[in-house]
Amino acid sequence: MIRIKTNEEVELIRESALLVSSTLAELASILKPGITTAQLDKRAEEFILSHQAIPSFKNYRGYPFATCISVNDAVVHGFPTDKALKEGDLVSIDVGVYKNGFHGDSAYTFGLSPVLEEHQLLMRVTRESLMIGIEKAISGNRVGDVSNAIQEHAERKHHFGVVRELVGHGVGKQLHEDPQVPNYGKKGAGPKLKDNMVIAIEPMINLGTRDVVYDSDGWTVRTRDGKYSAHYEHTVCIKKNKADILSSFSDITTQEKNNAALFSDY
Ligand code: MF3
Ligand code: CO
Repeated sequence: MIRIKTNEEVELIRESALLVSSTLAELASILKPGITTAQLDKRAEEFILSHQAIPSFKNYRGYPFATCISVNDAVVHGFPTDKALKEGDLVSIDVGVYKNGFHGDSAYTFGLSPVLEEHQLLMRVTRESLMIGIEKAISGNRVGDVSNAIQEHAERKHHFGVVRELVGHGVGKQLHEDPQVPNYGKKGAGPKLKDNMVIAIEPMINLGTRDVVYDSDGWTVRTRDGKYSAHYEHTVCIKKNKADILSSFSDITTQEKNNAALFSDY
């Protein structure tokens, strides 16, 4: 069942989503070679707790950390570890927060300079796929219109692998609500989008094959061929002519630009 939110509920989700964005911006300001993903996770958890919120992911179906940090060939749901990051790494950070009864969910992929050109393109195309999907997230369209737009851009135009096993989702009182929002599909298919539905759109795009495998930790999803992967996610509210993006990348990209250790192509 797809829950339509009241305007008041949308504002509460926006507050949570913007706290996720500030958390990602905070991490962007400290990202550099030598730091460990466990240190990033700790900073994120402290930041979230200090803003009267709790990390949505911790203990979600037994997930043990505040963040998912997926490096290089890890696609999503990577465990933070004590391994130091290094130049050339692609670091996908996914954060969710729960505040005032509602979740927000957003993710961003950072590159530690220097980043190989093929990885720069992967990051750009994945971010474009997200924005192209969001353009279709308007009332009257169907979920398949969003899915198809993402697939067309990433797969047909750029020949990257679109991960099938994991999908976007409704967001609200629950972190994962209906509908599922795949990153592949047919125009005109699936549930109809209506005003004040809130969904997370989150393309996971691989440089090589779309196929993925699970690590022995039971969580970390990796590309089957070991090539790198990128992941960007926004929480958005469906509206008539243009979706209202409840999370924001603007503080993140500012930090990205100001942090010389990060690749930034803006
Ligand atoms: N943003 C991730 C998703 O929507 C959330 C993963 S939650 C976890 O799939 F706890 F399972 F990691
Ligand atoms: Co999500």
